[in-house]
Amino acid sequence: MPAKGAPRVSNDPSDVLVVGGGVIGLSIAWRAAQQGLSVTVVDASMAGRASHAAAGMLAPITETKPTEEALLRLGLEGQRLWPDFAAELTAASGMEIGYRTQGTLAVALDNDDKADLDRLAKILAGFGIDADALTSRETRQLEPMLSPDVRSGLLVPSDHSVEPRLLTEALRVAAQRAGATIEQRELTSLAATKPSTTVLAAGCWSRALARTVGIDLDVRPVKGQVLRLHDAGGRFLTRTVRGVVNGSSIYLVPRGDGEVVLGATQEELGHDTTVTAGGVWELLRDARALLPGVTELTFVEAISGLRPMTRDNTPIIKRAAEDLIVATGHGRNGVLLAPLTAERVVAELIGVTA
Ligand code: GLY
Repeated sequence: MPAKGAPRVSNDPSDVLVVGGGVIGLSIAWRAAQQGLSVTVVDASMAGRASHAAAGMLAPITETKPTEEALLRLGLEGQRLWPDFAAELTAASGMEIGYRTQGTLAVALDNDDKADLDRLAKILAGFGIDADALTSRETRQLEPMLSPDVRSGLLVPSDHSVEPRLLTEALRVAAQRAGATIEQRELTSLAATKPSTTVLAAGCWSRALARTVGIDLDVRPVKGQVLRLHDAGGRFLTRTVRGVVNGSSIYLVPRGDGEVVLGATQEELGHDTTVTAGGVWELLRDARALLPGVTELTFVEAISGLRPMTRDNTPIIKRAAEDLIVATGHGRNGVLLAPLTAERVVAELIGVTA
């Protein structure tokens, strides 16, 4: 039941109601409005929304475990859409989105990490994907701030990044310019919505909303704590660097304006969005093992985001009822998969509304 006094939608005249104003919901709204559909987005701007905390890696190769082949294939399909999506969005919104194509450097600190990178290189060769195995010296020539303890590296030129906060703003503008309406409010039930079709793209909050119409979704929040640092000199990193330290995977993503995003923890604590001293400490401790100079950067922000994860780490993009399409559960890959998700959902919408 909706909370007493909570706003509800009734007799909504739109063809499509998109529930969720993150990168997934807004990408769907933009693409659907471009197709001439009448679109309303309901955006609750929840604390902990994944799009606000995300580092923005467009990195199916270095972000996916080699054993997750279905997810890797999906990520590669999503990655192929990004160059055109970025160019079209920049033109449609008149805004920059911080799209960077300098590649990603995965580094190994010990023999086990090196064996993992060698295994990944072999798998990539099987997919026909370009990746350069580098010695310690070559790795540090590319990124001179790396620790001398780095044993080897794997440069993946096709793993890119984007700035999710700029992306979200650009999508809002593009969606509105294409004719979508964006309403800032929280929806607590889908039961009273009256558009032709509702698209549920509310990240980890999708489960509770789906339950209001009797549908059970396998999606749960997984907290990621992230730090935003600033590199005043602008020379700390050229490309995304990532590695495994003390068993935890960490990454540092540089932006054009000197920002460096350091992430992320992976915590199963329900909807908790607390930033903890321990989380911040672990991130800095592990990052310092890769890049000792990280502690010289200016501290800007520590934030938590709630990844909408599914049991098998693949998203749920499907028609769940005659008037309900679900697009959630993108886990660690929401930004990467936003264009592909929008394409699939809009194909489904057009099939219905044409
Ligand atoms: N995609 C990065 C993360 O989920 O931490």
